[in-house]
Amino acid sequence: MRTRWFVLLTVVVVAAIGALVYIDETARSDAALGDLGERQAELASVASALISLAPEHARASLSERQHRGSIILIANRAGGFTTLAGAQLAVPEVVAARALGTRVVRLGPAEAAALGLPERTAMVGLAPTDDGGAVAVATSAEQQRDRDRAGRRRVVLSMLLAAAVMTTFALVVWRKQQSEASLAKGLAVAETARSRDAELDRLYRAATMAALGSGVAHELSTPLGVIVGRTEQVLARVAGDERSVKNLRVILDQAEHINQVVRGLLGLARGAPIALQTVEVRSLVREAAALVEHRFVRADVALVPAISSSLPEIRCEPLLFKHALINLLLNACEASPPRTTVRVDVHADAAEITFVVTDEGEGITPQEAARAIEPFFTTKPAGTGLGLAIANEIAKTHRGTLDLSQRVPRGTRACIRIPLEPNGQA
Ligand SMILES: Nc1ncnc2c1ncn2[C@@H]1O[C@H](COP(=O)(O)OP(=O)(O)OP(=O)(O)O)[C@@H](O)[C@H]1O
Ligand SMILES: [Mg+2]
Repeated sequence: MRTRWFVLLTVVVVAAIGALVYIDETARSDAALGDLGERQAELASVASALISLAPEHARASLSERQHRGSIILIANRAGGFTTLAGAQLAVPEVVAARALGTRVVRLGPAEAAALGLPERTAMVGLAPTDDGGAVAVATSAEQQRDRDRAGRRRVVLSMLLAAAVMTTFALVVWRKQQSEASLAKGLAVAETARSRDAELDRLYRAATMAALGSGVAHELSTPLGVIVGRTEQVLARVAGDERSVKNLRVILDQAEHINQVVRGLLGLARGAPIALQTVEVRSLVREAAALVEHRFVRADVALVPAISSSLPEIRCEPLLFKHALINLLLNACEASPPRTTVRVDVHADAAEITFVVTDEGEGITPQEAARAIEPFFTTKPAGTGLGLAIANEIAKTHRGTLDLSQRVPRGTRACIRIPLEPNGQA
């Protein structure tokens, strides 16, 4: 829109300048004609002086001096004019000018033709002679006029050219702006579509995870019931065998753990509120570490829980929370080369308690870190991509957050932050 105004303004300005220059050229042309007339008048004065000095030789001498393209006319007694060759000429404008004593006369094309000049504007200069007669010198303004006309044509052409160049320039700018605007619009539309797609994808994955989670949990509860029932039967039969009793009790404990986790996951999928308990942080981390210790041994990775004894107790659902920590620990173990260390650090301030699991593996790119908590995002051939998604849900149900970042100089840092109640409990 602004470009259109610019084009209009340019055309108006160029036209105004053109008009001014044209008017100026016309005034200059008129002034030049005036000068030409004055020169003819001066020539006429010279001719008049010649006639006064040597009237008998004047015609011959003037014939010799007759200027190229000029005609010298001498007034005859009848009031008309004759050429030096003696031809009578009827030029009323010149006769009238002589009568009025005018020095310079401008003739139209017809009068100029009557004098034998080209049929264009002509200028005549007049001067009286001592004997009461007059001399007139006429010349065609053809060349002057042609020069002026060519000059004006040049002005008009250059103005038109300037207007055309400015208009073309403005049009090119306008087209560019238009295409940039439509490109920006297209990009904005594409960006909106992309973010909507991402949101849809996220919702779809979350819904799938909830459905899958509750489905799996539901399916597990029946065989779990069978395992617990049969184990209890066998337990009754091996009452005297201490070692078998111990092993069967371990099976029952683990089955109960699975059962609790399954219930917790079912609750998460349903969005049910969790049953919070007050828990000591050190034992929570130790229990989680104990559950994954064998994996660290197998991978030849050291697991170092570095937890200060002055930490506050926290309010959490212990099984779910341990499950979240276990997921971080397993990821750290899987990312660790042999003979490296995974650390668990826990620290708290007045506002929150932070659980940090660090490893010395390859690390994680910012892009992977941003996507790691998405359900089904995995870079492992046999990974489900659900571990961190579930841990993130657990952190959220405790009003907390989970994030991953690259560690310097190497490795990954996984961090769960839980806000503390004003009395120091989470
Ligand atoms: N400690 C870590 N170092 C490097 N990358 C990690 C680490 N923890 C998580 N990731 C990245 O985040 C992805 C998602 O982790 P998540 O635990 O959700 O799934 P997974 O470990 O791939 O699969 P599963 O948990 O089922 O074994 C991993 O595939 C990996 O790319
Ligand atoms: Mg995992």
